[in-house]
This record gives sequence, structure tokens and C-alpha cells, in this order.
Amino acid sequence: MDIHILENYEELSKSAAQLIIKQVKQKKDTVLGLATGSSPLGIYAEIIKDHQENHTSYKDVITFNLDEYFGISKSHPQSYYHFMKENLFNHLDINPNNIHIPSGETEDIEQECQEYNKKLENYVIDIQLLGIGANGHIGFNEPGTSFSSVTHYVKLDEKTRTDNARFFHSLDEVPTHAITMGIKNILNAKQIILVASGINKADAIYNMIKGPIDTNCPASCLQMHDNVVVFLDKLSASKLT
Ligand code: F6R
Repeated sequence: MDIHILENYEELSKSAAQLIIKQVKQKKDTVLGLATGSSPLGIYAEIIKDHQENHTSYKDVITFNLDEYFGISKSHPQSYYHFMKENLFNHLDINPNNIHIPSGETEDIEQECQEYNKKLENYVIDIQLLGIGANGHIGFNEPGTSFSSVTHYVKLDEKTRTDNARFFHSLDEVPTHAITMGIKNILNAKQIILVASGINKADAIYNMIKGPIDTNCPASCLQMHDNVVVFLDKLSASKLT
């Protein structure tokens, strides 16, 4: 793993965004795997700024989001569909047909997982962007998930629900289930960029980098990939030395 420890969240966001922007400039039809949550917000702001100032085009870029809550509509303010539109897609020249996000509105969850997986099989993700849960999850692959998993329906850990309750009015409103790309899908990407900040990620980052490769820390699977770039702030990196 190529590990960069930056001064703060702003700096790590800038560095990670530069890798993505460079990739899109080099290959117009870049396939990006994208994440939601707090961690990528600074990166998305940098990408939008660059698009506005330098006109980097996303016209031919194809995107696949990692995950989506199950049982909330696309229009729900906390759906990942809504998040992506608000925080990235509405501000770029991306073709809506090139955007892929699992649907949390589906009646047939198994079919939705299979179809998403089939779509993924038609592409190779050039850069997969990841955050990490305080419990070591990537996407919504919670501890115990098989490293050979593909897109699946998942019951969210109570830790994940409490961590994400900050985005909802109450814990009761946080969905109990989600659809997520599997670990195998994630590892298929040519390059993986993981970003983390804050002291609450320090244990997960330690286990991801220094711990055993074990499903108890899903992110430890990244030790098996040969092109992973990690951007950390000082707090999330504080247990490494
Ligand atoms: C989001 C996702 C999750 C988050 C993780 C960290 O699409 O896949 O794995 O990256 O829960 O969330 P934040 O960044 O909000 O701390």
C-alpha cells in the first residue's frame, strides 16, 4: 500500500482528487467506483472546482456507486442517489446514462443485486474510491463478509447504523439493510484510493494496514491488492507508528 499522511482533511482531499482528475484527463471514458459518506465530500468539492475552472470533462466517464440503503426512495434526502446528485453529478457534465447506483427501491432485491453485478462485469473500474467504517467496513461489507462476495443485500451492523444516525433525525430512521458491491467487485478495480480522517477511524486504519488479512476487518483485504493508495490525516494515522 502506498500510504500518505497529510496535515488535515483539506490536504488529503486535494491529493486524492488530483489522482482522479489526472486519470480522467488521461482516459476520457474512465470508469470510476464512487463512495458516499463524509469522507469523499472534500474530494468531490475539488473535482467540481477543477471542472469549473479547468473544464475537465466527465462526458464519457462511467460511474458505479458502491452501495445504497434499502427501503428508502431515491428522493429521500439521505438516499445515496440523492447524495451523489447533490454533491457531485449535478455539478458535472456527466451523462446520466453513465451513472450506476444500486436501487434501494426495488421489490426484488435478489434481481437488483444480480443485475448490478452483471453491469459491473461489463466494465473494469479504473479507480475505486473508498471510505472506511469505524468497524473496518468498505462499501457496506460488514465484518465477517467473505472476500469472494459480489453485490449483495446486507443487514447493517448496529455500529454502522449508530455512526450514520448523525445524518438522520433519529436512530430509528436509519435503514437496517442495504445493497453493496462485494469485496470481490472492489478488488477487481485497477486502482483503489482509500481516504480516512479523524480519530474514530484510527483503529480501523491500523487493522487495515498492520492487522492480519481477516474478514473481521473487511478493509484488510486491501493488503492483497497491488495498487492501493491511502490518504490519511494525522489523527486517523495516529496508531500506525
Ligand atoms: C459509503 C460507504 C461506506 C463509507 C464508510 C465511512 O458509500 O461505502 O463504507 O465509506 O461508512 O463513512 P464516512 O465517510 O461517513 O465516515
